[in-house]
Amino acid sequence: MAGNGRKLRSSGWFGGRDMHGFIHRSWMKNQGFGPENFDGRPVIGIANSASEVTPCNAHLDRVAEAVKRGVWKAGGFPLEFPTMSLGEPVMRPTTMLFRNLMAMDVEESIRANPFDGVVLLCGCDKTTPAQVMGAASVDLPAIVVTGGPMLNGKFRGRDIGSGTDVWRFTDDLRAGRMSLEDYLEAESCLSRSAGHCMTMGTASTMASMVEALGLQPPGGAAIPAVDSRRYALAEYAGTRIVEMVGEDLRLSKVLTRDAFENAIKVNAAIGGSTNAIVHLLAIAGRLGVQLRLEDFDHLIRDVPFLVNLQPSGEYLMEDFYYAGGLPVVMKELGDILHENALTVTGRTVAENVAAAANYNQDVIKTRAKPINVGAGTAVLRGNLCPDGAVIKQSAATPALMQHRGRAVVFEDIEDLYKRLDSPGLDIDESCVMVLKNAGPKGYPGMPELGNLPLPKKLLEKGVEDMVRISDARMSGTSFGTVVLHVAPESAIGGPLALVRDGDMIELDVASRRLHLDVADDELARRRQAWRPRAPASERGYVRLYIDHVLQADEGVDLDFLRGGSGSEVPRHSH
Ligand code: FES
Repeated sequence: MAGNGRKLRSSGWFGGRDMHGFIHRSWMKNQGFGPENFDGRPVIGIANSASEVTPCNAHLDRVAEAVKRGVWKAGGFPLEFPTMSLGEPVMRPTTMLFRNLMAMDVEESIRANPFDGVVLLCGCDKTTPAQVMGAASVDLPAIVVTGGPMLNGKFRGRDIGSGTDVWRFTDDLRAGRMSLEDYLEAESCLSRSAGHCMTMGTASTMASMVEALGLQPPGGAAIPAVDSRRYALAEYAGTRIVEMVGEDLRLSKVLTRDAFENAIKVNAAIGGSTNAIVHLLAIAGRLGVQLRLEDFDHLIRDVPFLVNLQPSGEYLMEDFYYAGGLPVVMKELGDILHENALTVTGRTVAENVAAAANYNQDVIKTRAKPINVGAGTAVLRGNLCPDGAVIKQSAATPALMQHRGRAVVFEDIEDLYKRLDSPGLDIDESCVMVLKNAGPKGYPGMPELGNLPLPKKLLEKGVEDMVRISDARMSGTSFGTVVLHVAPESAIGGPLALVRDGDMIELDVASRRLHLDVADDELARRRQAWRPRAPASERGYVRLYIDHVLQADEGVDLDFLRGGSGSEVPRHSH
């Protein structure tokens, strides 16, 4: 029973005085659980995405133990279960292909089991949105605890950041500025503790997004994975989820339109990843919250960019935590946010962050002295991207934000790798690099290929950035003048498919325009001649994915997974 006398969902399993109750309780007792655990107390599922092939989440078993302490303390009954896990640095062809599969796993695992509330343990990029998407389609009380970032990388006396410095070192190696020996030494200096990427990449961004949405307790995004305070926070989450069950504080009561607007604005303030766009659109789609691609542009035009973290700035997540973390940012944003939005603490955003203090104004700037204003995501339109494309302004080169250049086209990633360093490649720094067939259906899975490496001969000349355009995503740790998420994608005949070497392309970020300067009748001729490629697979999940995945402007979820199926107790199993 909940405190208000409401019968809990778990009683549908453990409350029966019949064969069904006997079966559900008896087999659970083989783990040594005494009969009092089945007396109607809240049953809390702990969704654990720990895996040795997801190194960023490999420590989550310890986090789960801390959550359990909190659940026991509050009088609940914690039951941990494994979920699919998506290891960004290991999985091929891309974790994004499997985000929706993991979300299905999480959704069905929650609904099929006797849970009254859930704690979601995640960390690596896609594991956070996948768990929230799945949980949203069930809509029980839910609280997120991310695993926290790694400690700062340390290489020869200086801090180095996940992803961001890998791209830099790799460019240095290819340009002959770094020896292979040094490069390999740096590899061992980068990832030196448990946790996820410690730049403001996608994992840190999504951890911040769930905190901004009100789903993660305040401060949870930035505490390093190995800091004892993460485990204290996890214990609090275990205690709090039991109370949330009593309050019937379901996920849909937290994830309102206001909460999504807060997350979008916070993403601009932290210089967060463009990947937040597809993930927030997908989560909103599970709850019927109307969110459009344009919201990621018009909502942030007055938002100050405050957080000086790589890849857009200098510092790393450990510094962010010591400076005060996300509560400082949200307090600084103040009335730019919906301060009355409800969070999992049972308090509002304003109440959660009231006591936050900024301990380092070089890491977290003030609203009076921001890095700049309105420099988050820009959503582009034009004949090259009728359904939109995005560019992260804070990571781009200002001089390239208005640019007209000759297209150098790569038909797919294999074509790019084959020709990129060829001395005969007809390219200079004024060109626009175009990559096709890297979208949701085309790759499949919309991989993080959008920050195309620059040709070696240009790196050797000292070129550091060029305009690049694709239907891919890019790692949240990446930087450059990179136009991403072009929709519709090239594999389904979007205009990107029609671009040819030598075409002129115009990018004008200020007027949100991306234009292919080719006459309409010529484009019509090319469209007539265009033929789709054969799908990457004729069977299994990949086939299902290709047949049903939505385009980038709609969040790249599977069409039939939008919405939810609720938390009704399913039919008997025996
Ligand atoms: Fe897992 Fe970056 S690779 S968070």
